[in-house]
Amino acid sequence: MGTTDTSGPAPGRGAVVLALRRYGSELLRLRALALPALLLPAVGNIGIRYVAPLLIAKLAGQAADDGGLTLDSALPYVLAFGAVLLLAEVLWRIGLHCLNRVDALGMEHLYVSGMDELLAKDAAFFHDNFAGSLTKRVLSFGKRFEDFVDTLTYRIVGSLVPLAFGAVVLWSYEPMLVAGLLLMIALTVVAATPLIRRRQRLVDQREAAIARVSGHVADSLTNMETIRAFAAERREADEHRDRVADSRRLMLRSWDYGNLRVDVLIAPMSVLTNVLGLLVAVAFGGAGQGVEEIVVAFTYYSNATQIMFEFNQIYRRLESSMTEAAQFTELLLDPPTVLDPAEPEPLAPRDTGVRFEAVTFAHAGAEPIFRGLDLDVPAGARVGLVGRSGGGKTTLTRLLLRMSDIDAGRILIGGQDISRLRQGDLRSLIAYVPQEPAMFHRSLRDNIAFARPGATDAEIHAAAAAAHVTEFAGQLPDGFATLVGERGVKLSGGQRQRVALARAILRDAPVLLLDEATSALDSESELLVQDALWRLMEGRTALVVAHRLSTVAGMDRLVVLDRGRVVEQGSHGELLAADGAYAKLWRHQSGGFLGESTESTESTESTESTESMEDTENKEGTQGTEKAENAGRAGSTEGAGVAAVDPVPHARTSTGPT
Ligand SMILES: Nc1ncnc2c1ncn2[C@@H]1O[C@H](COP(=O)(O)OP(=O)(O)OP(=O)(O)O)[C@@H](O)[C@H]1O
Ligand SMILES: [Mg+2]
Repeated sequence: MGTTDTSGPAPGRGAVVLALRRYGSELLRLRALALPALLLPAVGNIGIRYVAPLLIAKLAGQAADDGGLTLDSALPYVLAFGAVLLLAEVLWRIGLHCLNRVDALGMEHLYVSGMDELLAKDAAFFHDNFAGSLTKRVLSFGKRFEDFVDTLTYRIVGSLVPLAFGAVVLWSYEPMLVAGLLLMIALTVVAATPLIRRRQRLVDQREAAIARVSGHVADSLTNMETIRAFAAERREADEHRDRVADSRRLMLRSWDYGNLRVDVLIAPMSVLTNVLGLLVAVAFGGAGQGVEEIVVAFTYYSNATQIMFEFNQIYRRLESSMTEAAQFTELLLDPPTVLDPAEPEPLAPRDTGVRFEAVTFAHAGAEPIFRGLDLDVPAGARVGLVGRSGGGKTTLTRLLLRMSDIDAGRILIGGQDISRLRQGDLRSLIAYVPQEPAMFHRSLRDNIAFARPGATDAEIHAAAAAAHVTEFAGQLPDGFATLVGERGVKLSGGQRQRVALARAILRDAPVLLLDEATSALDSESELLVQDALWRLMEGRTALVVAHRLSTVAGMDRLVVLDRGRVVEQGSHGELLAADGAYAKLWRHQSGGFLGESTESTESTESTESTESMEDTENKEGTQGTEKAENAGRAGSTEGAGVAAVDPVPHARTSTGPT
């Protein structure tokens, strides 16, 4: 229950005003087309609804006066009648030609600018909003412009301008005709407004029920595997049926209210208005003008009372298009938080070292995960980041990429504060492999090439070979041209990781940021990929997150992160010798994953192991840092004698599980 991804509360006033402003400025931008688009159909309607009937009225008047008609006396009217209708059609065609362009050009611009605004949003925004809902909102924002402009053209300008013309003509016959008509329209609007408001509530309930249906369908379809695995098809179908029945009930209620309540009020008002018009025409029509005036009064009143029925629909259509547009503009009310500085520093790093200085950061609405964190990754160093799940490793890598902004402190790359660089410049320095690499539903080749537009085929294939993508690409139905499915579902977890590594290799950036880049690989594939990685790390600065300690044991320095704090750092050998938190983790792992043997303590919320880490920090905090300073440069010189037992070819300091 409650998967109402597409509904949510109705957008506020600010969002509706913003949507109106956006649509209004489109009309202004396209004014050379918008003006004829709005006015020509209205002028055409004057011809069809008011001028042509006026000619008929004049003809009837003439017939009454002359006691009959001859072809000669009727011909001018017939010709004028034809000319007016023809002209009206021409105006309509020109108007629609312009309207089509206003709709198409306006939508194009809104689709593009809407996407631009989403691309400017920060990572936190996409954590808070579902992709499905954003897709619907940004597309509706463009699409609803058509409804808005069409309603404005056909229903509002197209009705009101001719009505004003009709009023002027009626006035020339008899001012009372105008007074009567306007009075009746005003009375109807006043009487119908509360009913339309009440209907609005029913319509909102109906729309919410429809959104509950689509939310459930989307949720079920994305979780199809889980439904199958738990044999829950029947349950999901029943839930769907209930929701559809609920929306049918609410749909009928709102439609019935429109037909049985709103129109039941408007219909007699409309009849009354028409009768009144006829009465006024008869009562006030002078002897000579009688027939003509009665025909004019009848047709004009009958046209005008149509508007009474349309009033309900106009309101509804404008309201629904503006509500949908506002569901997008409400996303724009909060500007993105991660922005390029007004005057960015030119990119001029003195080296590729990375420093976190007294960094404090909290995820929105959560307790700070880092408080005054310091971490130094000297240029050219290979640093492994390890620690218990949830300790903040991924968060740290994402802060370096500036996916979110920190609350205090500084992050430096090559001595430059990353918040003073352009985001694009900063990220051009970093090759990143995320913990859960996502794929585009594009070809395997395009997924790799994404890392560097303009890369040659040879470069792409070299990267693919280095990341051992080539092996499995050969087995895919279309090789490198195979589409990998939504989010890459047609690839295995390990294959996706290899594609992500190929991207990083192709990116060829000076700083490598690997978050569990090889976690989904079996030991044998990992061995192969590690080989490529070590070669890639040559001459670069690398920050490598891994749960499998054997993956990082050979790094120049290891940093143990727990609950957002660096509890230990040093080389593998040093940390084992220190017999602290890392040594304990290492003992828990026999070539497997961190946490496998500590799971029971973690899941029962026991703080035993955490406490022991904190003890370690108190005892060894400073010592660890000193060691780290040395280890940063000296990692490759020690422990060669024990490398034989290490599962990682390049691990130079490992003593293996003890
Ligand atoms: N977008 C987010 N919003 C709120 N909290 C978050 C968000 N992302 C992560 N967290 C929280 O921050 C903490 C650190 O998460 P992080 O992903 O950095 O851990 P990790 O060390 O990478 O863990 P793992 O080893 O499981 O990958 C966790 O408690 C997590 O719940
Ligand atoms: Mg993580």
